[in-house]
Amino acid sequence: MATLQLKNLTKRFGKKVVAVKGINLEVHDGEYLVLLGPSGCGKTTTLRMIAGLEEVTDGEIILDGVDITDLPPRKRDISMVFQSYAVWPHMTVYDNIAFALRLKKMNRSEIDRTVREVAGMTKIAEFLDRYPFQLSGGQRQRVAVARAIAVKPKLFLMDEPLSNLDAKLRVATRTELKAIHHKTHATTVFVTHDQSEAMSIADRIVIMKDGEIMQIGTPEEVYDQSASIFVADFIGTPPTNFLDVELVREGETLYLVNPHIKLPLSAENAARLRGYDKRELVLGIRPENILLTSADEADLSAACLVAEPQGSHQVVAVELDDKLLKIVAPARPKVRSGETVHLTFKQESLRFFDRESGARI
Ligand SMILES: Nc1ncnc2c1ncn2[C@@H]1O[C@H](COP(=O)(O)OP(=O)(O)O)[C@@H](O)[C@H]1O
Ligand SMILES: [Mg+2]
Repeated sequence: MATLQLKNLTKRFGKKVVAVKGINLEVHDGEYLVLLGPSGCGKTTTLRMIAGLEEVTDGEIILDGVDITDLPPRKRDISMVFQSYAVWPHMTVYDNIAFALRLKKMNRSEIDRTVREVAGMTKIAEFLDRYPFQLSGGQRQRVAVARAIAVKPKLFLMDEPLSNLDAKLRVATRTELKAIHHKTHATTVFVTHDQSEAMSIADRIVIMKDGEIMQIGTPEEVYDQSASIFVADFIGTPPTNFLDVELVREGETLYLVNPHIKLPLSAENAARLRGYDKRELVLGIRPENILLTSADEADLSAACLVAEPQGSHQVVAVELDDKLLKIVAPARPKVRSGETVHLTFKQESLRFFDRESGARI
């Protein structure tokens, strides 16, 4: 168990590529922290620097108060699980887990106890005598996790460990990883590009873009209080709807106006925009915060382009100019293509962003 601090951590590849641009981050003791971002944003590079597999260009890595920036990997007390199942094919599951423990000169009975303990935790106890080729992808990845836990590292790093599994197994395995974490409380940094994976397992999410941190927060915070258009767009499916609007005052009331809507703002929302000196902004609203309503209550009425049934709900898309507005609506009554839908926006769920910087207002 440990805390990890990254201070101004930077990685350059050659003269041109700055893969990680001076990030600052603190991972708490026992925390499950997820680095999330699109491909190429610097997640793997960050993790490899923490593991000692990549030389640091600038900045510091502090593990439990000790500067490990220049320590070789084996002296860092860190375990890493990769995307590919890095289990040894010529060893049984038992030996895969025991190998590192033998290197540590642990005695036989202690090794046996540890192997059985972590195999129980990761639900592979019945496979200890098998070879990796006799296991499914998900089971093999659990062996990799068991092996990493067994050495009781200070810090546990995982780089997209579920991305080689099929969709259903991926969802099941992420639940298991979370359950394992509840038992071990191992401080973990987990990397993924899959926002729903991040949301479902993280204590906190670090959203990265182009080598920089965009936002750090709990899943609820990054979803409800997205700091920028980038985050509001990246988190959630379907993503946040964005509308370019103008602020117009008529008498006492402030409106958001575009060719399709004229939305009066509540006192709270108007207060939030007080002092904002630009006329133009971006309105963000999540699909579940647009409700179907009657014609006379509607903020907006438009023809449904398509409605996608999802079983528990339906996703209704309407076209505004060249943009789609998506609404998550109850499964019934089923909305038909071409049908006019009347929509109202939940006032407390309106989010405002600056059009130039994309930052939340
Ligand atoms: N060994 C390398 N040499 C040059 N550029 C690299 C190397 N490794 C990664 N990069 C570049 O650094 C950036 C971040 O890569 P990476 O950390 O792998 O991103 P992610 O894991 O988020 O997909 C990318 O632009 C990638 O092309
Ligand atoms: Mg990567």
